[in-house]
Amino acid sequence: MMVRRPIIAGNWKLNHGPEETRAFFKKLEGAAPSTPPELLIFPPALSLTTALDIAPPWVHIGVQNVFWKEAGAFTGENSAQMARAVGSSHALVGHSERRQIFGERDDDVTRKAETVIKAGLTPVVCVGETLDERAAGRVEVIILRQLSAILPVLAEWPDVKVILAYEPVWAIGTGETATPEDAALAHATLRERLLEEVGDERGRGVPILYGGSVKPENAAALLSTPNVDGVLVGGASLKPESLLSIAAAGSVDTPRG
Ligand code: PGA
Repeated sequence: MMVRRPIIAGNWKLNHGPEETRAFFKKLEGAAPSTPPELLIFPPALSLTTALDIAPPWVHIGVQNVFWKEAGAFTGENSAQMARAVGSSHALVGHSERRQIFGERDDDVTRKAETVIKAGLTPVVCVGETLDERAAGRVEVIILRQLSAILPVLAEWPDVKVILAYEPVWAIGTGETATPEDAALAHATLRERLLEEVGDERGRGVPILYGGSVKPENAAALLSTPNVDGVLVGGASLKPESLLSIAAAGSVDTPRG
């Protein structure tokens, strides 16, 4: 037997300023089991340095968004290089809120993923269909189109870690969760295309997270779904207790092999 350690990532979105960030990590350390899980937290940019100052070593800190240029006259943007310089290790790219509210397109996702990798950060690239797209039977078409935006990136940097997240838009912040069957289908579709396009080794080396109303009650079922290598949690990541119980749900003994 070996212990399977899925990736548990928390996306705080525009929540938790420095004060709440400090309180979160204080509580997290107090509530952590003796072998704490590996967590990945994406605080808002203005809480990044606070998180980096006080997060325990088993927590990795990432930035929620960066611009695809490193520096220059781009008022209001974040730089991947600067995120790295303060100590971040990961960056979200192409979250559906960025696509829907801020008009990001697939070509922005490609450029941002490239910039993130060049800065030495691990991109967590999000894909997922809307409710209308699902109703129209276009899940595969949409997620494969979104995936194609990063295939050249995977080919160009064959040894760099890239994480993918399937986040059906209709399940984000709605309380609606994809069933394990929905998730299994979408994850298998993504995995298959990865294997076809970038080969076995590279394709299997890309973890695929599920995101969309993940909570302690549904985490175990989702995390035991084939091809689900972890979860990206929004609302339920704001409280240390619920994030830890999601992590505990995913840490199960599985037969080796
Ligand atoms: P949610 O958000 O868990 O609140 O649905 C997930 C996400 O947007 O990453």
